[in-house]
Amino acid sequence: MMIDTKPSFDIHQTETSRLEQVDFENLDFGRVFSDHMFVMEYENGVWQRGKIEPYGPFTMSPASMVFHYGQAIFEGMKAYRSENGDVTLFRPGKNIARFNQSATRMCMPTVPEDIFMEALAALVKLDQNWVPGGDDASLYIRPFMIATDSYVGVKASDKYAFSIFTCPVGAYYKGSVKVKVERKFTRAAEGGTGYAKAAGNYAGSLYPSMLARKEGYDQLIWTDAKNHEYIEESGTMNAMFVVDGTLVSPQTSETILDGVTRNSVLQLAEDLGIPVEIRRITVEELRKGLAVGKVTEAFGVGTAATIKPIDEIGIDGINYPLHASTPSVSSLLLNELDGIRRGKIEDRHNWNIPV
Ligand code: COI
Repeated sequence: MMIDTKPSFDIHQTETSRLEQVDFENLDFGRVFSDHMFVMEYENGVWQRGKIEPYGPFTMSPASMVFHYGQAIFEGMKAYRSENGDVTLFRPGKNIARFNQSATRMCMPTVPEDIFMEALAALVKLDQNWVPGGDDASLYIRPFMIATDSYVGVKASDKYAFSIFTCPVGAYYKGSVKVKVERKFTRAAEGGTGYAKAAGNYAGSLYPSMLARKEGYDQLIWTDAKNHEYIEESGTMNAMFVVDGTLVSPQTSETILDGVTRNSVLQLAEDLGIPVEIRRITVEELRKGLAVGKVTEAFGVGTAATIKPIDEIGIDGINYPLHASTPSVSSLLLNELDGIRRGKIEDRHNWNIPV
């Protein structure tokens, strides 16, 4: 069935929903895909009319430039089901703005914000029965853009595909998290692409992460490219620490992603009267703080991970366990963030956008 809705895109609805096959009680992260996706192509210098269609494979030439030179960016955002059953998007405007920053850095066209927002809302509304309720559950939304021109020379592509698909998800990290402060490999250097959500940033992190896993760690905390002296971010989350009762978060920069969850958590800490410092933190300060018990908590914050307490940090081969007091700062913040997203606590900053 083709329904011509608004001028921006068409909707071609599936006739065979897969919803009944989903085990919503046992959702893994990122393995189940909702019925529909949004696709819009760019060529001749303009975005073509987009469409929402059944989720399915792309047909692409082996010479598509994304396969060779890596022009690929993405975003991660979530829709939540409130206590009253409503579905809301959490701060989508911030993800749209960051997506376009990533596009500019990777020499790709930006996506008009109004079309992006309209596509998100329409897609989530169409698949609203895929938005799970319950603790830890949400609809993860993955917008992305790839270079699609068939050409073997090195240059920015002339053609792109922008797409959005969604997945009902449970927790990203299950169980405890042990991280290693990475002192040899680098995620991002000044002047590079660290602040962009470029696919290649993640590809480059896989080998060091695999080595760390062999040593028994679940994740890395990256340090600066010059001297590996300053704490930057974890591969899938921004890092935060509680030092003598103060919430300390490394300042975002060219090499650190400006996380939407990070920004929200810092605002909530301020609302709750928790002292906050946004500053550089050295590995040395962290090591000493952990050794004498001044650093009582460490946690990662991100869309996929939400707020994930870190149980143990490895620095230069020595593991430092963390023992938060009860209630921990991270649990207070998670309660607040989750309460707002699920309509249990007043949305005083207008972060929830109904679909
Ligand atoms: C997110 O938190 O949404 C991310 O993009 C991190 C990861 C799943 C790649």
